[in-house]
Amino acid sequence: MKPAAGRIMKSPGRKKIDLPVSAEVSVKDYHDFLAEILIPEEKLQARIKELGAEITRDYAGKKILLICILRGGVMFLTDLIRCIDLPLAIEFMAVSSYGVGGRESSGQVRITLDLNCSIKDKHVILVEDIIDSGHTLNSVIELLETRDPASLCVCTLLDKTERREVEVPVKYTGFSIPNKFVFGYGLDIDDYYRNLPFVGVVDLEHYKPE
Ligand code: IMP
Ligand code: MG
Repeated sequence: MKPAAGRIMKSPGRKKIDLPVSAEVSVKDYHDFLAEILIPEEKLQARIKELGAEITRDYAGKKILLICILRGGVMFLTDLIRCIDLPLAIEFMAVSSYGVGGRESSGQVRITLDLNCSIKDKHVILVEDIIDSGHTLNSVIELLETRDPASLCVCTLLDKTERREVEVPVKYTGFSIPNKFVFGYGLDIDDYYRNLPFVGVVDLEHYKPE
């Protein structure tokens, strides 16, 4: 039987985590390796509202194009655009930088899905879930700069600043986070758990890949 409010998950020898009601769907047994909820849903949504308001102010009088980097940025993009009060269009790109099952960027970034439109003379905002080493965004920026946008900037939900290997100019940051592997709210661990409404930290000792 489910209690009305959040429930307490128990794992032997682990700290109890009070899960929000909205996360009660048993996606899989993620609570076995959920070390902590780093950013709860309410905090995410409140910060996204602020970012949307900031973008609305900064680009007042302009049309903008938001380019989402698949797949991690999707949740962020869809919530963010509902907080922006401007004429805007969305586009998608996909890149791959991690080896299969990898947790580290390989530094070798491949565009696996390119844009369907020209960005020439457009005000472009690149929407990303997280910046880690910086290799992914750095390569995407280098490529897009060659296509003559009117302006190009980066809006990332999360930033692991201490992991940076290459400089990336970031205009909008949701949260700076410590060097921990996180999942949920668009971010995956081995392709799963993107649908969780919060950002959680993976306890890699208790995570068992299938
Ligand atoms: P970078 O090229 O090292 O900056 O890696 C950026 C990409 O790696 C992000 O777009 C994510 O897809 C992925 N990534 C980096 N850190 C994490 C994490 O903690 N959890 C899930 N994905 C991550
Ligand atoms: Mg990503």
